[in-house]
Amino acid sequence: MSQKLLEVTNLSMHYDTLDGNVDAVKNVSFTVNSGESFGLVGESGCGKTSVAMTLLQLQPDNSVITEGSIKLEGKELIGLSENDLRKVRWDSISIVFQGAMNAWNPVIKIGEQIREAMREHYPQNSKQENINKINELFKMVGLDESISERFPHELSGGMKQRAVIALALSCDPKIIIADEPTTALDVVIQDQILNEIKKVQNLLGLSLIYISHDIAVIAEMTDKIAVMYAGSIVEIGPTQSVFESPKHSYTRALLDSTPSIRGEKKKLRSLDGEPPSLINEIQGCSFSPRCPSPSSGCKNQSVEMGLIQIGEEHFVDKCCSECV
Ligand SMILES: Nc1ncnc2c1ncn2[C@@H]1O[C@H](COP(=O)(O)OP(=O)(O)O)[C@@H](O)[C@H]1O
Ligand SMILES: [Mg+2]
Repeated sequence: MSQKLLEVTNLSMHYDTLDGNVDAVKNVSFTVNSGESFGLVGESGCGKTSVAMTLLQLQPDNSVITEGSIKLEGKELIGLSENDLRKVRWDSISIVFQGAMNAWNPVIKIGEQIREAMREHYPQNSKQENINKINELFKMVGLDESISERFPHELSGGMKQRAVIALALSCDPKIIIADEPTTALDVVIQDQILNEIKKVQNLLGLSLIYISHDIAVIAEMTDKIAVMYAGSIVEIGPTQSVFESPKHSYTRALLDSTPSIRGEKKKLRSLDGEPPSLINEIQGCSFSPRCPSPSSGCKNQSVEMGLIQIGEEHFVDKCCSECV
């Protein structure tokens, strides 16, 4: 029986800017069980990274969490002191983000940088123990041991990102957040790294939150998927169920724009329009300006938002569940 590892409930967060509040995360709820992989998908700017950073409590200074709860193994993370949060980060939740491979310190050898993180979390370990562990992790992510002795500039982008994955694993996290971890890499390397992440996840029994704008990648990587639009989750459910019977027009548009998933000859169909600005409070259903079949009530300010259940563990936004 799988156990709840991470439980996010009604999470809302905005950025305080000179132009007004940017409502980047609106009433977001989801659960990730032990060993499960959970995907977050949506267009650029819909709030995916904001969710990831808020989970780690690493959001920028101008952000404000207005509501909600983030529980890791039953323990609330919102409101923890910086000291307690440092313990949670890396050794419980760690993150691999898009630009991570460029975040290596250029003048320190890769192995030394990983050992530095390990020393902080495992002060009792000997240097040799840490070296052995790094060698093991390198093997898992397809890197040669000798990489430890190299400087970041001596490695290719793909190698640097593999080393980031090893770093993220070095303190034995229970859950890894991978936020577009392969976007900056070429396609062949992307594929290899996705396989590596999947392999490591299975091998170590980790939970994974995989974030991508590419629903095809999410399909390969996850058991459960949440589709985000304008800061909200508009559809969530088992990956198979969402892919076989997507209920939200936005989910369908994402799937239709990825021909490899739903039959290769399918004509690309993109959605007209742009996601709404997150600065002004959106009137009515946030998807209504782009909805292919809006009803007259969708633009109504009092339209009922929120998810309703339409299948086993499969939920869709209430407004859009009625438009289809
Ligand atoms: N530090 C910030 N200050 C103000 N707005 C921000 C900040 N970071 C992100 N945003 C805005 O928040 C929204 C969500 O961004 P983000 O979470 O990065 O989306 P995604 O990862 O899905 O591309 C966007 O409108 C973005 O411009
Ligand atoms: Mg992002």
